[in-house]
Amino acid sequence: MLAIIGGTGLTQMQGLEVKARKQVSTQWGEPSAEIVEGVLAGQSVLFLARHGHPHRIPPHKVNYRANIQALKDAGATAIIAVNAVGGIHPGCEPAGLMIPDQIVDYTYGREHTFFADDLDEVVHIDFSWPYDEPLRQQVISHARELNLAALEQGTYAATQGPRLETAGEIKRLANDGCDIVGMTGMPEAALAREVDLPYVCIALVVNMAAGLTDEIITMADIEKALHDGMGKVLALLDKTIQGYSA
Ligand code: HPA
Repeated sequence: MLAIIGGTGLTQMQGLEVKARKQVSTQWGEPSAEIVEGVLAGQSVLFLARHGHPHRIPPHKVNYRANIQALKDAGATAIIAVNAVGGIHPGCEPAGLMIPDQIVDYTYGREHTFFADDLDEVVHIDFSWPYDEPLRQQVISHARELNLAALEQGTYAATQGPRLETAGEIKRLANDGCDIVGMTGMPEAALAREVDLPYVCIALVVNMAAGLTDEIITMADIEKALHDGMGKVLALLDKTIQGYSA
């Protein structure tokens, strides 16, 4: 069963026929919101609002471990994460999509592993390719069918937030090879890998990153791009769920 983690602009799944809402607890604490069980495109799915519903938990305060554990416990076999991001790559535009294939992690001070305490042995997961390639290819092929013009590879820079970056920081991220920047991609992706859950990201560009245009970044512009682009994300989720078999 696929699980969707909805980010900014996606705290509820439109079109989801809700069967149950479960307030759960895990050994890592409580997830951001209820785990919603429902049916979408004829398939059972799980939905979790990363920032809570209503949207109130900032990126550095999200309990990523509880979120991933709760979805695993609820029977998830794979995760599609939806993330609002800033665009760095010149091919990005507000309301456009990218399905990234790499991550650079600049976050700090977050609980970022399940393998911290009471270990029989030290565990190092392979994370060379942080996203699940077969699932990523499924998402890409559905994006093509829908003519969404999604960018099909790129590197996601995970920053600490909640402030946006300086223009200097974005220059550095570009030099590091990053194509998009967001605040929630990590440690979420790594935790999913630690519990063997295939994980992909649908990134919705909601602004060009700091210093790349003459304008400052306003919440109004971000909200407009979220509004303009979320329909594409929902269509892509719908198709992917329809075509998914575990
Ligand atoms: N930077 C970091 N995170 C973001 C941005 C950004 O420009 N836009 C949306 N999330």
